[in-house]
Amino acid sequence: MKTLTLQPPMPKSAAHGRVLVVDDHRQARESVADALRIAGHRVQGVSSAVEALKLIGEESFDVIITDLQMPGMDGLEFIRELERRRYGAQVLMITAHASVASAVEAMKHGALDYLEKPFDSHQLENLVTRALGRGRLIDQGRPLHLPASTTDAVAMIGASTAMQALRARIAQVAPTDETVLITGESGTGKELVARAVHAASRRASAPLVSLNCPVLSAHLMESELFGHERGAFTGADAARSGRFELADHGTILLDEISEIEPVLQAKLLRVLQERQFERVGSSRTISVDVRVLATSNRDLPGMVHQERFRGDLYYRLAVVPLEIPPLRARREDVPLLLEHFLGLAAARQHKEPCLLQASALDLLVNHHWPGNVRELENVATRATVLNLGLPVTADELRPWLIDSDAPRQPLSAEASLPTGLSLEQMEQRLIEATLERFDGHRAKSAEALGIGLRTLSGKLRQYGYAPRAKARSA
Ligand SMILES: Nc1ncnc2c1ncn2[C@@H]1O[C@H](COP(=O)(O)OP(=O)(O)OP(=O)(O)O)[C@@H](O)[C@H]1O
Ligand SMILES: [Mg+2]
Repeated sequence: MKTLTLQPPMPKSAAHGRVLVVDDHRQARESVADALRIAGHRVQGVSSAVEALKLIGEESFDVIITDLQMPGMDGLEFIRELERRRYGAQVLMITAHASVASAVEAMKHGALDYLEKPFDSHQLENLVTRALGRGRLIDQGRPLHLPASTTDAVAMIGASTAMQALRARIAQVAPTDETVLITGESGTGKELVARAVHAASRRASAPLVSLNCPVLSAHLMESELFGHERGAFTGADAARSGRFELADHGTILLDEISEIEPVLQAKLLRVLQERQFERVGSSRTISVDVRVLATSNRDLPGMVHQERFRGDLYYRLAVVPLEIPPLRARREDVPLLLEHFLGLAAARQHKEPCLLQASALDLLVNHHWPGNVRELENVATRATVLNLGLPVTADELRPWLIDSDAPRQPLSAEASLPTGLSLEQMEQRLIEATLERFDGHRAKSAEALGIGLRTLSGKLRQYGYAPRAKARSA
């Protein structure tokens, strides 16, 4: 029996992915996209296969959902083209007339499953979750071609000292060919930083090939990394090049490296030392020119100490360490990130960016953010999807925050006093925070604020509150 040392739960992100929806019918496309956004996925929609092919040359997706019947290139041709390009995403089809023949045909060319119209959002979500799981299991790696102007693809938001320092480090290490180990909690932006390093390196025009290490068995992982010869094992009908070969002259990103099994740790060490390896089932040595980036959200030195990760591999990987601090350690970045993601979500949904009540912003700034930037991104997307034009309230946001019941650490007075606000804005925030503290009880709040009840009500009306205070659901 095989003992797995990799018990960590799948990262929170495992259930969320980047999804591309291809459908010429706008309403159908939007409803699929919205349902998936609410489920927390990042979704983009295009109206033709041609547009989709263009987009996947610039951005990477985990799942592609395509309509089968479309003018021009239809879904089936599109799927064949994806297969030809060996694009790594999982493909799902949507079909109006469940024609078994075309569904089978599409599945022969790599599509995972199909949905017959009409379907509900649960079926859709389930299928996408399954596709994501399978994608992570089988074939995470895919060449990520960055657009010519890389600034947008790797826009790293944040003005905190920590982020400024990180940007400076990236600028320093990117041009070197050194191996970089990027560490940080789940959702802090490790993959983003890896892309930024690649984009600022002399290899920027070559591919960044990534491989997500968790859950692949040592056997699968070896052939993914190094490729295999025909007949190397049951099912190896054709020779195939591995990620290292695909990344030649470019960069390879070994995502979540801590999860790699000991047998492979040894093989990887050799590649890092000599840039040489053999395909599975072959004795021919292949040399590549590849820069290695790795990420980890686990305590690698601790794992080395427990002899679960090779020390020599760790030191090879950690030539240049880049550590991304958790979002709670750089709260100044929260408003900037919010603005960024609210803007992006609004643009995607053809809406005006939604506004937050001051108390809602406070809630977010003080939140513990266990899911870090990804959690914040999801909150912004949801707020945009569900917003009906009124400023978002703290009560609306609270249920979306991870672990919102856990006691939050109160900030010191200095830390919670935001400068840069006008007195008027500050007054509104104080009033809202006081109301929150007294569960919306206006008389108590007015007393605490040292103003009359009528003054308070007047101010609240001015801020656009309903005539009667809404009690907090404690
Ligand atoms: N500073 C930032 N500016 C803008 N977007 C960011 C920033 N940091 C993270 N993001 C976004 O947050 C999301 C999560 O980032 P990313 O996938 O890089 O995190 P990660 O650390 O690799 O997470 P995991 O450990 O779960 O794999 C992505 O959509 C990324 O673009
Ligand atoms: Mg990641």
